[in-house]
Amino acid sequence: MIQSIAWKNKKVRFLDQTKLPAEEKYVETSDIEDIARAIITLQLRGAPLIGIAAGYGLVLGIFPFLHASYDEFITAFDRSYARLSQTRPTAKNLFWALERMRKCSRLTATKDVPTLFENLENEAIAIHREDAIMCEAMGKFGQELIPDNSTILTHCNTGALATGGIGTALGVIASAHKAGKKIHVYVDETRPLLQGARLTMWELEKLGISSTLITDNSAAWTIKSKNVTMVITGADRIAANGDSANKIGTLNIAILAKEFGIPFYIAAPTSTIDLDLATGDSIPIEERGRNEVVNGFGSHIAPATADVFSPAFDVTPNKLITAIITERGVHTAPYEQTLTMHLDK
Ligand code: MRU
Repeated sequence: MIQSIAWKNKKVRFLDQTKLPAEEKYVETSDIEDIARAIITLQLRGAPLIGIAAGYGLVLGIFPFLHASYDEFITAFDRSYARLSQTRPTAKNLFWALERMRKCSRLTATKDVPTLFENLENEAIAIHREDAIMCEAMGKFGQELIPDNSTILTHCNTGALATGGIGTALGVIASAHKAGKKIHVYVDETRPLLQGARLTMWELEKLGISSTLITDNSAAWTIKSKNVTMVITGADRIAANGDSANKIGTLNIAILAKEFGIPFYIAAPTSTIDLDLATGDSIPIEERGRNEVVNGFGSHIAPATADVFSPAFDVTPNKLITAIITERGVHTAPYEQTLTMHLDK
């Protein structure tokens, strides 16, 4: 399986996703700033992976203070926390992982810095390991929703590259394939940064899953003319009522799924769920720089002065979501009840 990130000898090793599929380039670093920049530039991306990277990034930020006083150590922790929390605003997994690390730093009775450091290093490793387990469970529950001979449309990249395991939506697809089901996957290219074309197609090829790349604006016609039977995507943040933020363009295909009468599923670990937000209206939506649109394919594809609006995510309202697959099971409306019930367990 592709390993998007690894922790070894107090260093982070990660696959630079901006170079794929042309080059499989790994970066090794012991500098928290490299991790922060990697998240901002999408070298490291996908909600669960951003959370895992933040955990390891925090450990890098405190490692130089291993022999400092308790106060200096905690100050370094807080500074690292603040830096990482400013990288990308939408994925709940980032804040979930940072908060889990913060609790670990404060809950222990000990003020012995080496012990605290070791606890935090173990917590970051646990966040990573548990994500892989959650992916497997989503795969197990989700693949039951995929009948044999399914034609699936997906958006963005939600596989091993985006997580610590087999993936969320792509993990479900991979599990169905592994279970021997015949499936074909249509992949939105996912403008402007082409996570579908560059990353999902690359992963599907490695998995040996039959797939076809389409331009984003072909989705409606593809659903109609190729008899797409379901849509599955991931999510970056899910509000308490089930409204789900995911890569820009997801809302388009959720609306299409309704129009064509096919199910629209979301697969995401519970670390993506934000029960503090009642609805999707308060999910912070990241806006990216104009350059990613104007210089889309390495050359000017719009006038240099063109005004650009480039939201990285949109929010699909709960009424368009057939079910949300988490590591705890398959949740259906009313999500206010089903998501909360499962999280409280
Ligand atoms: O901007 P990105 O590439 O980080 O956006 C990723 C997505 O929108 C994914 O669909 C989402 O994080 C789920 S990944 C398992």
